[in-house]
Amino acid sequence: MSSEKVTIFDTTLRDGEQSPGASLSIEEKIEVAHQLAKLGVDVIEAGFPVSSPAQFEATRLCAENVDGPTICGLARANSKDLQAAGDALKAAKTSRIHTFIATSPVHMEYKLRKKPDEVLKMAVKAVEEAKGLADEVEFSPEDACRSDMAFLVEILNAVVEAGATTLNIPDTVGYILPYEYGKIIAELNEKVVGDKDVVLSTHCHNDLGLAAANSLAGVSNGARQIECTINGIGERAGNCALEEVVMAIRTRSDAFEDIDTSINTKEIYRTSQLVSHLTGFSIQPNKAIVGKNAFAHESGIHVDGILKKRETYEIMTPESIGLGESRMVLGRHSGRAGFVDRCKTLGYDLSPEESKAAYEKFLEIADKKKEIFDEDLVAIIGDEVRGG
Ligand code: KIV
Ligand code: ZN
Repeated sequence: MSSEKVTIFDTTLRDGEQSPGASLSIEEKIEVAHQLAKLGVDVIEAGFPVSSPAQFEATRLCAENVDGPTICGLARANSKDLQAAGDALKAAKTSRIHTFIATSPVHMEYKLRKKPDEVLKMAVKAVEEAKGLADEVEFSPEDACRSDMAFLVEILNAVVEAGATTLNIPDTVGYILPYEYGKIIAELNEKVVGDKDVVLSTHCHNDLGLAAANSLAGVSNGARQIECTINGIGERAGNCALEEVVMAIRTRSDAFEDIDTSINTKEIYRTSQLVSHLTGFSIQPNKAIVGKNAFAHESGIHVDGILKKRETYEIMTPESIGLGESRMVLGRHSGRAGFVDRCKTLGYDLSPEESKAAYEKFLEIADKKKEIFDEDLVAIIGDEVRGG
């Protein structure tokens, strides 16, 4: 049975790079873009070309050099932005302009100082102009989740009529809850998409830690594109993390029946490390999927379970994200089984008495030290058991 595809739109180089302190050089952006292509993302949002000469050049070089994904550039709904995006994307095999304008009352009144009918006219004009400058046009009503639903339906229907083929629904301020976001997507699917060849897209920020959950609620209700970044980097608390949604859809294929992405998950870890290294943003140890502890086990009960059957405490394998093996950490929470197993791996076949003495010494040291490494074990066995 062929599965329905969710397009992965990676915005690490645009929204991700907007994280305070995360700026990348042009060369670094191209290096990341090549790795994203290897990872198998469908669309790379390479930058916001009008915003600076470096943003323009990075987008232009991605369009010229990166094969595979569609290359996208961001533009506000005005000619200057759209022309810059079109110029930067000229060399792309498949190009996309992503144009946006805010639709929520607070953004229209205080930021844009425009009435809804003026905003609607600007959106339609921008999409019409973008159509002549790129192969595909995506439209975002910024702050969609705090916008009036009737106005959202009206503006989205108007931009579809003007030629937009992807409708992105940003939760710009990370405010929405999963069931609410799912409801918005379902309603737009019914009132705007219908049987048209138009894709609804999720774009969720993580201010309440709900970006991945909201994106998945969107997919469950008809969205077929997810906008996300590697390691979830982005403005404030970041964007939806690519690795989280991709692995959720893969691991819980029972819940996302007949839906999949084209991501080569074995490239996830390498991509995550590259982005962390180049941005200088370290990854929290407990970060889902790519954190140092995501596949590490220390407590006696867990290690014992894993040694008997991996599935007791692991819902996916480290190999599936391109990481070597699960890590059994030896420390104060370790039990005898993990300790004996590591001794065996190091080549020590201890008698029950030796094992008991070494384990007691191990616990004594583990109380003072966060982690016991192989060299500590060698010393414990040498000193305490073999008297060396
Ligand atoms: O979060 C947001 O609203 C954006 C738009 C530009 C799509 O990043
Ligand atoms: Zn955003």
